[in-house]
Amino acid sequence: MIRSVFKGSGSALPKTCVTNDELAQRVDTSDEWIRERTGITQRYIAGEGETTSTLAVEAARKALENAGMTIADIDLIVLGTCTPDVTFPATATIVQKELGGSGFPAFDVAAVCSGFLYALGTADSMLRGGMAKNALVIGAETMSRILDWEDRATCVLFGDGAGAFVLSAEDVAEDGPGILGSQLHADGEYKDMLYVDGGPSSTQTVGHLRMKGREVFRHAVTNLAQVLKDVLEKTGYPASAIDWVVPHQANFRILDATARKLGLGMDKVVITVDRHANTSAASVPLAFDEAWRDGRIKRGDLVMLEAMGGGFTWGASLLRV
Ligand code: UT7
Repeated sequence: MIRSVFKGSGSALPKTCVTNDELAQRVDTSDEWIRERTGITQRYIAGEGETTSTLAVEAARKALENAGMTIADIDLIVLGTCTPDVTFPATATIVQKELGGSGFPAFDVAAVCSGFLYALGTADSMLRGGMAKNALVIGAETMSRILDWEDRATCVLFGDGAGAFVLSAEDVAEDGPGILGSQLHADGEYKDMLYVDGGPSSTQTVGHLRMKGREVFRHAVTNLAQVLKDVLEKTGYPASAIDWVVPHQANFRILDATARKLGLGMDKVVITVDRHANTSAASVPLAFDEAWRDGRIKRGDLVMLEAMGGGFTWGASLLRV
């Protein structure tokens, strides 16, 4: 059967790291509050010359190298972001040009923190459908550029970064590698729980991120636990078969509550929220890349990827590495 097989990953973070204590000098907050409520201790913030596309290009280059490929092998780029360099063209086309590619499809998907899961699902369908052979799937964000730095309830939570996967369509055995199953959801009923109060067509401004944190938290745990159960049921695996969960990194307490609902120990959950904060669409591939490169995630492992974000949007993918 044709599956989208993971070939390699890469990631990138901005140069500047900002600690909770440094933030507390700018807004009315404290290291203690941020740590206790979220598990975050620091985040990376893009500086001059660093944009969503520059971070994406760095992550994509590393992913290609890790996969033993070059841009000449790639025939599809799907990039998840809610902080594109410009309204158009798509950041994916900027990345394509910077990497030296041309001709093949390159486009962005906007699903906020679920952006990487949506990009992965889209690329997986295109690979299995024969529209491409080797895809770069990227999650990249500069959330710092849409934060209201006067709003302590949101500005302490986010960071910038990028992560990328290379996937190849391959004919594999039933018990072979690849994406085994995915599920994506959206519910626009909750569009006002987490949103940006500006945009080209409404205000002609970029706007700032707004969030009803408690509501998002409640829905995140319920929705994520359900979609994880659904993907396990669909693929026929028990939760105990999972080697690693690579969740969207919004809040340590969400990761903990979701793992508990599935009866999984936190020793099976890859955690980067403490050092990266919430990097939206970048968080899943950033966390995956860290665990892949340090040897925690190995070939043959069963890895669950999951995310939930504005919209609401949410989803999960089960991958045999
Ligand atoms: O990536 C997309 C998904 N996003 C998420 O998953 C985020 C989900 N939500 C959360 O992670 C949590 O709801 C937050 C971390 C955002 C907030 O934690 P919380 O325990 O729900 O706190 P809260 O918003 O209910 O605020 C509690 C108190 C409030 O003070 P009062 O009204 O109780 O006096 C806030 O004003 O904490 C105050 N507060 C702060 N204090 C110090 C809010 N932000 C801060 C802050 N520093 N940065």
